[in-house]
Amino acid sequence: MINWKFLQQRDTGRVSQPLHSQLKTICIGKNIEINITGSFVNNKSGIRKLRNTIQYYDKINIGCGDNIINIVPGWLNINKLREKEIFCGTVSNKQDACFLNCDVLKELPLIENNIKYVYASNFIEHLTFQESIDFLKKCFKIMKKGGVIRLSFPDLELWCKNYTFNNKKFFKQYYKFTGGYNRLPELKTKGEIFMSQLHNWGHRWGWDIESMRHVLTITGFSKIKKKKHLKSAIVDINTIEPKTKVRVLECTYIEAFK
Ligand SMILES: C[S@@+](CC[C@H](N)C(=O)[O-])C[C@H]1O[C@@H](n2cnc3c(N)ncnc32)[C@H](O)[C@@H]1O
Repeated sequence: MINWKFLQQRDTGRVSQPLHSQLKTICIGKNIEINITGSFVNNKSGIRKLRNTIQYYDKINIGCGDNIINIVPGWLNINKLREKEIFCGTVSNKQDACFLNCDVLKELPLIENNIKYVYASNFIEHLTFQESIDFLKKCFKIMKKGGVIRLSFPDLELWCKNYTFNNKKFFKQYYKFTGGYNRLPELKTKGEIFMSQLHNWGHRWGWDIESMRHVLTITGFSKIKKKKHLKSAIVDINTIEPKTKVRVLECTYIEAFK
């Protein structure tokens, strides 16, 4: 059962044009400046049309984040939000930007064999091991043959190496880039910072390339390769891959094909 959480926050919404033509203006709000133009949806038939409309996208950005800066034009950006924080409207200066509020563990309301690219940056470590397998199976289903999945995540092997070789600079930089001095001022040692990465931020599991290769294989994927930042079979990787210092410092990247 699809659990749509489009907030019925404004009560005037009539879908005056075909939703497909309004695709560019479907978006969200959580602490976001939104310029409502009246294209929001708050009735059953509108929501049904919207469900069809999102099938137009063949590139999805899962766990995109809950801020406007995370919403990438040209992609269907997916993240779970708390209820009552979502509606449809126009976001200034973001053309072709679409956001879907959904918990992908409960549902991924997309048709099968349709998606060309699945992108998920720093999302999979928010799932348990079993949830990750279930999630990858869902991705496999909705992807078309030849489609690419790209995952990035904090690299357990890199973290362990830096710990073992006492690379203080790595831990100091991570702490600084994540705002650690403000958020967790007590953390000091490399062990404390390492454990905070593994257990804070909603992280549920630590991944290295070997384990990720394993779960991608058992969920059906092939041609699995470790990749470098911004090096990808996804042609417009530059539009979607985060370039923040913390991501570049701590992550690794893997890609696989259906
Ligand atoms: C660390 S953020 C990543 C944001 C962005 N992709 C990046 O790399 O900066 C992980 C996001 O995954 C979302 N998330 C976690 N579990 C989820 C789920 N089951 N369904 C949808 N989104 C989820 C969180 O709400 C969070 O916004």
